[in-house]
Amino acid sequence: MEFFKVTLSLLVIAFLSANLSVAHPGFNVGWGGNGFGSFGLFPEFYQFSCPQANDIVMSVLEKAIAKEPRMAASLLRLHFHDCFVQGCDASVLLDDSSTVVSEKKSLPNRNSIRGFEVIDEIKVKLEESCPQTVSCADILALAARGSTVLSGGPNWQLPLGRRDSETASLSTSNNNIPPPNSTLQNLLTLFKRQGLNEVDLVALSGGHTIGVARCTTFKQRLYNQNGNNQPDATLDKTYYYGLKSVCPRSGGDNNISPLDFASPARFDNTYFKLILWGKGLLTSDQVLFTGSPRTTMELVKRYAEDEGLFFNQFANSMIKMGNISPLTGFKGEVRKNCRRVN
Ligand code: HEM
Repeated sequence: MEFFKVTLSLLVIAFLSANLSVAHPGFNVGWGGNGFGSFGLFPEFYQFSCPQANDIVMSVLEKAIAKEPRMAASLLRLHFHDCFVQGCDASVLLDDSSTVVSEKKSLPNRNSIRGFEVIDEIKVKLEESCPQTVSCADILALAARGSTVLSGGPNWQLPLGRRDSETASLSTSNNNIPPPNSTLQNLLTLFKRQGLNEVDLVALSGGHTIGVARCTTFKQRLYNQNGNNQPDATLDKTYYYGLKSVCPRSGGDNNISPLDFASPARFDNTYFKLILWGKGLLTSDQVLFTGSPRTTMELVKRYAEDEGLFFNQFANSMIKMGNISPLTGFKGEVRKNCRRVN
């Protein structure tokens, strides 16, 4: 009897939510009815309104990453830079307009974040199949997960149902995204501001197992780490000489170096092994092992020893990061074009 009652209520919910989607195409609630903004995100959000959403995202990603493996890294980073600025609301994708000052010009983003054309291509395909249904904020979350999986990393059940902002914040982008020469204390503070703890900090920093950084982001370590014209003493010597050849004292600011030189396109735990050997590229990477408080050092060691443990925690922390202040229910909108508000 109980079984029939539950099945019947599920059918009623599905029927009502399908009708609501038809009646209000601009306000698509998927199924399960998140209509009043109180239920948060859930993996089946597009189960009825756009069941092929993830397949569409994956087919575009497969092509883009086959063409340029680094694209996986760039897309993973985009989701991070979105979520740390007024929550995961696709604010990072907005271009300048009469009402918007784009985040793309902020210090951490300028000449640095990339992958917008891939997001555009995914959006165009989704609009063809499921008009005004899948938000740009969810596309960023799906693209980050898909990029991780296609690079050999973990998969996870991804909660969905984010909606898109009508605003961006250049100043929040400048203030909330940690700079590469951060102390451990500073990293912990900036992550805490987003509801993330030291376990999340270490696991998510593991995103640096793929992708590259520009010379300008690690130059200080090579030539003047503490204002005494000396290199960072925690840098492995051989690694240091190698880095100097790509990143001279003057000029070469846009030369790039892999964040994990041992396997730059493979999502694995070598990032943590390299840190143990003094071969982390950014100050923010190396301080996870050498900085105080010492709590993060133990985590770096554990993830270096046990890739499965790292993968599990990375997945959990990505879900946590993806949950930062999403717009749900009647808040925000589903943009037709990720670069501008409707
Ligand atoms: C802990 C604080 C973090 C700092 C200080 C930091 C800093 C940086 C910097 C400076 C770069 C290079 C940018 C450039 O050269 O223009 C970079 C690249 C990257 N970051 Fe982070 N990051 C942090 C956390 C994260 C997190 C949480 C993720 C994702 C989970 C992430 C993913 C990436 C990826 C994948 C790249 C390479 C992008 C590419 O090749 O296009 N980072 N990060």
